[in-house]
Amino acid sequence: MKERLIEKFQELYGAGGEIRSYFAPGRVNLIGEHTDYNGGHVFPCALTIGTYGIVRNRDDRKLRFYSVNFERMGVVETSLDDLVPNKAASWTNYPKGVMWAFEKRGYKLSHGLDILIYGNIPNGSGLSSSASLEVLTGIILKDTFDFAQVSMVDIALIGQDSENNFNGCNCGIMDQFASAMGKKDHAIFLDTNTLNYEYAPVVLEDAKIVITNSKVKHSLVDSAYNDRRNECETALKELQAVVDIKTLGDLTEEQYEANKIAIKDPFRQKRAKHAVYENQRTIRAVEALKNNDVELFGKLMNASHESLRYDYEVSCEEIDILVDLAQAMPGVIGSRITGGGFGGCTVSIVKNDAVDTFIEEIGKAYKEKVGHEAEFYVVDIGDGAMKLS
Ligand code: GLA
Repeated sequence: MKERLIEKFQELYGAGGEIRSYFAPGRVNLIGEHTDYNGGHVFPCALTIGTYGIVRNRDDRKLRFYSVNFERMGVVETSLDDLVPNKAASWTNYPKGVMWAFEKRGYKLSHGLDILIYGNIPNGSGLSSSASLEVLTGIILKDTFDFAQVSMVDIALIGQDSENNFNGCNCGIMDQFASAMGKKDHAIFLDTNTLNYEYAPVVLEDAKIVITNSKVKHSLVDSAYNDRRNECETALKELQAVVDIKTLGDLTEEQYEANKIAIKDPFRQKRAKHAVYENQRTIRAVEALKNNDVELFGKLMNASHESLRYDYEVSCEEIDILVDLAQAMPGVIGSRITGGGFGGCTVSIVKNDAVDTFIEEIGKAYKEKVGHEAEFYVVDIGDGAMKLS
């Protein structure tokens, strides 16, 4: 892969100089959805698919970007003196945003770069292609400019800052954290309130993680995401009038039930309920995995889906079809929507000997009901972002 990309790089920008290669993965979240901006826990893992970057220093302040995924855009040229969001600049706003966020923190980028990007995360699938591009840019800058004091956690935070304040999506920290901090064969049990984290081995002896891409993306993704955040923030303020908490993640289910009356609107009550219960479910799920109780982990995944479907209302018809089909199938331990919602992917844990039937039968039934094909990926859990030697 890397060799082909380097060839393409030289074809575009010419040979010579020191050419460096980097990779940052996408992620799948096993459980803990829409908890990361509510001070709760998440449990994502890095994938082995992601975004590659090939880079060479320039001695002026120019930036040249090229993406193999957006060939028709050709080489996009800009400069370190022009780090402002610009709709026409499309995907290059992600690396530019990260550069902007480094400079905002006082890290001076002293020269320009030629960059070639290639990503193998299916577009718009909710597997964090944009977060991986942000984290990729972060490690490129850390390595290129010798910012030894910038940690991988900082890179995740810088990526989130760029997404929130340069690219206008009010996301939490989960995706960037998973891409920066991932570890092969482990999921990350992250407390988004403190950023304390722990790696939990995901040893599924007789099962696999299967991602199913619904291949739908509804237009309300960004606006509805921000709506949910606002609803949770209002619910938190209402609860704070009666209990001493900093985030919804501070509440147990019992405390929530005892105080929910303070939330004036029934929809907001459902949103807050999801945030509280999903956080507790995530803590329990990680415990179950540690005890090798994969069955219980699967049940909690199913419960997570139900809560996202009815209380948080971030699922959609196509995803519910996939999840219903999966949960009804023998050999499926658990299945739920993963990521921001309103389309994208489901994540399922499927017994090894049921994987082929899963793909075949759900694929067929989905096509019949929805009219287009779903895509299936049997995935491995990979490491976080890295320089490629
Ligand atoms: C998106 C956001 C994350 C997180 C998930 C939902 O992926 O980028 O921060 O909020 O949705 O769990």
